[in-house]
Amino acid sequence: MQDERGLIEESRDLGNGYHLLKVAAPRTAEAAKPGHFVMVRILPALDPLLRRPLGILDARPPYIWLYYQVLGSGTRLLAGQRPGDSLDILGPLGNTFPELPGQRVLLIAGGRGIVPLFHYARTYGERRPLLLLYGGRGKADLPLLDRVRSLRLERLFVFSEDGALGQQGRLSDGLEKIVRDERPDVTMSCGPEAMLAALATLLKPFPTRDLVLLEARMGCGFGACQGCAVRAADGSYRRVCDEGPVFPMEEIQWPT
Ligand SMILES: Cc1cc2nc3c(=O)[nH]c(=O)nc-3n(C[C@H](O)[C@H](O)[C@H](O)COP(=O)(O)OP(=O)(O)OC[C@H]3O[C@@H](n4cnc5c(N)ncnc54)[C@H](O)[C@@H]3O)c2cc1C
Ligand code: FES
Repeated sequence: MQDERGLIEESRDLGNGYHLLKVAAPRTAEAAKPGHFVMVRILPALDPLLRRPLGILDARPPYIWLYYQVLGSGTRLLAGQRPGDSLDILGPLGNTFPELPGQRVLLIAGGRGIVPLFHYARTYGERRPLLLLYGGRGKADLPLLDRVRSLRLERLFVFSEDGALGQQGRLSDGLEKIVRDERPDVTMSCGPEAMLAALATLLKPFPTRDLVLLEARMGCGFGACQGCAVRAADGSYRRVCDEGPVFPMEEIQWPT
């Protein structure tokens, strides 16, 4: 973990509250692996005091790319930053999705959950074929689709609830057939909690190893505040920031 001053190189508004940032942060870019996240604070700024956790979409030293959705005060402030502005970047933090050479991997991304899985495909897709299932509410929710199409993938399955892109429906509607047809050894998922809870139920009958990247509200990002604790299936708690954010799916207690 390191703290470095990142310099915004490009800031692109992709519409519907989605933004793409290219940041020069050489030490973070060098160390970043798929699943890692950074805690971001705008400089100079006292408000909001807390940093915000964001995944790393891509890392090609000296740059990292962040892709985020404006939800509240922190992401709104970030959206106002321009090339030449500075960010305080703490990271890379957390554990990562393992490479698992020789295993057939299905990546499952809902909306902005594409971030760590895009990074995974960019990093390991050159070495072996990967499957990606990507879904969102509609076209405006999938502004990275062209970039996703340029990844090296064995197969890409796209779902949109309004049918504007790919097959109509939620990605969970297509999951069982895809798992039956493609026979992955491992699934790696990231997306809204309700989607992940649905996947946990759907994947249970299959012999796949299922990994999930969780988002949680965070204070510190490195295990000091307990602010990110989530309930585990055995009733104990897990800190998303330093015990995760990647967990075996069956280890988490999902809402019913
Ligand atoms: C490991 C990790 C990786 C993440 N990666 C990304 C990413 O790559 N791109 C991205 O857009 N976001 C990502 N997030 C979520 C991001 O951190 C939050 O959206 C952000 O902190 C919101 O800050 P804010 O100040 O804009 O909103 P706040 O003012 O803090 O909150 C506004 C509202 O947004 C909602 N909200 C806030 N945080 C979360 C959250 N973690 N999950 C769900 N809803 C939330 C709540 O409804 C809240 O009321 C990640 C979170 C974690 C833990
Ligand atoms: S965010 Fe502080 S312990 Fe996880």
